[in-house]
Amino acid sequence: MTPLKTSWQAPSNIAIIKYWGKYGNQLPRNASLSFTLENAKTITTLTGEEKYASTNIDLVFLLDKVENQKFGQRISKWFETLLPYFPFLKEFKWVIESSNTFPHSSGIASSASGMAALALCLCDIASHFKSRSLETLTFDQKASFIARLGSGSASRSIIPFLSVWGKHSEVLSSSDEYAVNIDIPSVVRTYRDTILIVSPDEKSVSSSVGHGLMDLNPFSTARYVQANTNLTLLLDTLSQEDVHGFGKIAESEALTLHALMMCSDPSFILMKPQTLKIIEKIRLFRNETNLPVYFTLDAGPNIHVLYPQTVEPEVLPFIKSELLSSCHDGKILYDKVGKGPEKLS
Ligand code: DP6
Repeated sequence: MTPLKTSWQAPSNIAIIKYWGKYGNQLPRNASLSFTLENAKTITTLTGEEKYASTNIDLVFLLDKVENQKFGQRISKWFETLLPYFPFLKEFKWVIESSNTFPHSSGIASSASGMAALALCLCDIASHFKSRSLETLTFDQKASFIARLGSGSASRSIIPFLSVWGKHSEVLSSSDEYAVNIDIPSVVRTYRDTILIVSPDEKSVSSSVGHGLMDLNPFSTARYVQANTNLTLLLDTLSQEDVHGFGKIAESEALTLHALMMCSDPSFILMKPQTLKIIEKIRLFRNETNLPVYFTLDAGPNIHVLYPQTVEPEVLPFIKSELLSSCHDGKILYDKVGKGPEKLS
């Protein structure tokens, strides 16, 4: 049999309503919403060569042509969980070749785009096999479901522009098992996400550990209610193209995420002094100009500056003159809302 081979690229995403807390088999405690990005992407080629014996999962993971055992082990564990859906995974030796469009040491996590690109490759290859599993799902739903089992936020990277993962009363098609797209108000398509790299270091506490700490966090129940309420409010602001209302919720979600980290046990702080310095300057600039420039934060110290394209001529000079000096080595990534994954072969 000729080897199975396919290539996909998938983007990273930035959550506006945060997923922080999970249970069971990678199910979210609340619905989350994200912008799918355009420039920060992972490109993955998956090749499968038939094996003589169908025993264990057998794979090699190459990042920029160099074997990366740490990520390889994480992918092996993920493939194990996929066997009920894709039993053929045991019958091939897999070579996964991946590269990112964003620099390795940029502090941008590659798990969302990486797991999404690989999930798309897997679903593509799975279509060569007769399988009844997940047959009620569309291709995108299936890819999002599979990506979710690798990393929760990866489920959202399958969807263009605006993605919702987690059952929510305002989004009829929503599901805890996969992400869905929602109507995109035109202003959203123009949103910029300028990423200010405060520190390129790997974070000291992984997201998985952080999610786990939510189980005993005294504020967790209130947080899950708040997230779902914020999603309802956010959808309202988007349908009214209320860019200030949108930004206010985005900032509150980011600060709540970090507040939850600070009051976990053990407590941890991922923001750096420069993160706060930048936040203060963004707020000052906004108060002075009334421009809709807001920020969000991932589980890390880097700042995502969010604003519609219309105000770019004023915002970019501000970023360069006021914020660049607080970035690590002056590192900034320019991204924007994007159209989602693409098949390359
Ligand atoms: C803060 O998706 O990385 O970025 O499901 O354990 O892989 P796992 O967690 P992950 O968590 C992302 C958390 C977040 C918020 C978000 O993207 O919604």
